[in-house]
Amino acid sequence: MASESGSEILVHTESGVMTITLNRLERKNSITADMYGAMADALAQAASDAATRVVLLQGHETIFSAGNDIGDFLHKPPAGPDSPVARFLHSIATFPKPLVAAVCGPAVGVGTTMLFHCDLVYAGDNAAFSMPFVNLGLVPEAASSLLVPQMLGYHRAAEALLLGEPFMAEAALEVGLVNRVLPPTEVNGYAQSVARKLAAKPSSSLIETKRLMKKGQQQLIRAQMDDEGALFARMLREPAAKEAFGAFMDKRKPDFSNL
Ligand code: COA
Repeated sequence: MASESGSEILVHTESGVMTITLNRLERKNSITADMYGAMADALAQAASDAATRVVLLQGHETIFSAGNDIGDFLHKPPAGPDSPVARFLHSIATFPKPLVAAVCGPAVGVGTTMLFHCDLVYAGDNAAFSMPFVNLGLVPEAASSLLVPQMLGYHRAAEALLLGEPFMAEAALEVGLVNRVLPPTEVNGYAQSVARKLAAKPSSSLIETKRLMKKGQQQLIRAQMDDEGALFARMLREPAAKEAFGAFMDKRKPDFSNL
């Protein structure tokens, strides 16, 4: 698949590696419904196309993603299991081939939660991971309420998910969310070289090894994502989320004192 210049999701396949690039810098790579749809379509194609052996997800060296587009949360809230975001989350959670991520700068919300479904994650020393769902009157998504406590341990997960405060690349390396920390200018190139190294290995061995590592959890992940998704859709319409999004749009601090 060739890259489409001007698109907010760039897809380029070379040497067995499909590279999916978030390309909406003016909005800090926040992700719209159309972008989730494009990424879900790219993953579906990568899963079925024998010439694609590995997928690399990357952003820019200054920002990975500011998470879901907040205007979409207000005006086009995701509805049900066929919504583009649900399709994307399901695709990434069940993607059968190796998934590598290159992350620099802020990775907010889904920008962090999607990484729990990647096999290898390389980060810039400027990477800042955050899951501020509570601060937005929401709940975690992408099965992060299951996967974050598993990886970080309960108390660090509570810090990340209840307080919603960012943690930096070195902390992510220490807990195992990140494989290696590099200077931001080197991250995408390094991740590409690892992806090509994987692409040169026997694809069926990679696929079966990944399946064996993940199979014990797949049903749990699916059930958690369904549970989170129903709550998330409900809470998007409630006063706390409306106050949080209104405050973001008005560039003021939210006031949850009566909520
Ligand atoms: N949705 C829509 N627009 C967003 C956005 C988002 N998630 N994140 C940033 N933007 C927009 C800003 O509104 C701003 O627009 P403007 O130029 O019209 O004012 C522009 O992108 C630049 O963002 P800014 O906040 O000025 O950049 P920054 O470098 O100071 O901060 C972030 C970067 C990512 C830390 C900050 O933008 C942020 O916290 N974004 C919101 C993250 C969030 O809550 N996401 C939802 C998670 S579930």
